Amino acid sequence: MLKYEEVAKHNTRDSCWVIVHGEAYDVTEFLPDHPGGSKIILKYAGKDATEEYDPIHPPGTLEQNLPKERCLGKVDPDTLKDGAAQLQRDKKEVGPSIKEDKIPPMELCLNLYDFEVVAKRVLKPTAWAYYSSGADDEVTMRENSGAFGRIWFRPRILRDVSKIDFSTSILGHKCSMPLYITATALGKLGHPDGEKNLTIAAGKEKIIQMIPTLASCSFDELVDARIDENQVQFFQLYVNSNRAITEKIVRKAEERGVKALFITVDAPQLGRREKDMRMKFDDVGSRVQNDNKDNVDRSQGAARAISSFIDPSLSWDDLNWFRSITRMPIILKGVQTWEDAVMAAELGLNGIVLSNHGGRQLDYARSGIEVLGEVVPKLRERGLFPNPMFQIFVDGGFRRATDILKAVAMGATAVGIGRPFLYAYSSYGWQGVQHAIQLLKAEMEMNMRLLGAPTLKDVVPEMVDTRALYTHTNTVPESSGSQVYEKMSTAIGKAGDAATIADIADKMSKL
Ligand SMILES: Cc1cc2nc3c(=O)[nH]c(=O)nc-3n(C[C@H](O)[C@H](O)[C@H](O)COP(=O)(O)O)c2cc1C
Repeated sequence: MLKYEEVAKHNTRDSCWVIVHGEAYDVTEFLPDHPGGSKIILKYAGKDATEEYDPIHPPGTLEQNLPKERCLGKVDPDTLKDGAAQLQRDKKEVGPSIKEDKIPPMELCLNLYDFEVVAKRVLKPTAWAYYSSGADDEVTMRENSGAFGRIWFRPRILRDVSKIDFSTSILGHKCSMPLYITATALGKLGHPDGEKNLTIAAGKEKIIQMIPTLASCSFDELVDARIDENQVQFFQLYVNSNRAITEKIVRKAEERGVKALFITVDAPQLGRREKDMRMKFDDVGSRVQNDNKDNVDRSQGAARAISSFIDPSLSWDDLNWFRSITRMPIILKGVQTWEDAVMAAELGLNGIVLSNHGGRQLDYARSGIEVLGEVVPKLRERGLFPNPMFQIFVDGGFRRATDILKAVAMGATAVGIGRPFLYAYSSYGWQGVQHAIQLLKAEMEMNMRLLGAPTLKDVVPEMVDTRALYTHTNTVPESSGSQVYEKMSTAIGKAGDAATIADIADKMSKL
């Protein structure tokens, strides 16, 4: 068995060993090929990299990418303890701003915004930056929730609302409400069990979970974590430039019982999320002494570091190929205009998600709910709506049951929610996600009663006044969403690292 002291000697670009889960690996030759750049590996050269490695790499990644002989064997666990102590001393990252035993009791979270407030204090600054960030000036991210403030209700009275039923079916699968958990990458940044928290809570609450391509847990782990074999899961696909890899992933998803394929079409390149990028600008000194051997700009943030495989040449012409390799329904995730919605329907696909990726891609893209208001009439005009074989989903900024009901009234089958569930499990594990879903269910029941709609069929277009939606002038300036939003200029800085360009300039002047 190797001793930690031996591994620690291999701490340079010329001989770089790292420890992951108690095993030592020689990654010297792999350094130039690492999608996230060599610098991040070199930071852990001769050390235990498990904590940094885990959230970003599904199990098995090392084994798949390194020749067998580069696995050097187990490191004596007793000697590893010295290594851990050394690593702790070397580490610069500041932890969460509140300790685990000081987290407010979960029951105090009364709505989805409350989880965000807690998570901001519980998450490490790097994780908070990755989860909470949006593209460029985050205008679209804020607009996603702001747009709901421009839709008003027209409730009906004197209807029997003693019993309320908001169960529905999505792509033919029964679920307890018109909601699914959308795909969000890197779940282990927030909690050691990562996306498994979502699987468990979704199963218990009879909600569908969309498994992301870039999950921290392996695909198999997430399928195995289902609470029973009837639990329905969908799969989100980032299409690889190497189609053989994509084909393998899609076939495996179908074999393992996944019920639908959501192909992400709004991310030919991942957007610039500056909160995330600044957080990775963690070492101004070494940048000044850059040896130019590291070609990857390491200020790119977690998102860009892991996404270089995504194929920017993906086009409409590829869609028939997907139909030839799977029988799963195919849905495009990230449609943003009626023209593309019509093309998807005419091509005979099974649905679309009107989404701007949570405001993380093209800034100034319109909110999903606004696009919904545009898409449905255009499809209807062409006889393409309503059509149970072509369903419309929408995501981005949904935080209240009233938001969900507005989308249902406007023609959506169901809506996706992303960040709030990440925040819920980062703070409270799967129980947090379950609590968040239960809060939404309680809101659904009350609001459907107040709307005069005992079932989802009674939630009709006439119940919403959308005249202001398209004006882009917010009538509710101080929504809960705008109160929890963290301004870009004050966003970071808590890690002790560079926050704004002013901080960076300040740091460099002192070097
Ligand atoms: C941290 C994070 C990671 C995400 N990862 C992915 C992803 O890997 N694939 C994808 O198609 N969408 C991804 N999305 C977009 C979501 O699926 C969804 O469109 C968005 O989060 C909805 O907005 P909301 O977070 O306001 O609910 C991600 C969003 C966030 C916040």
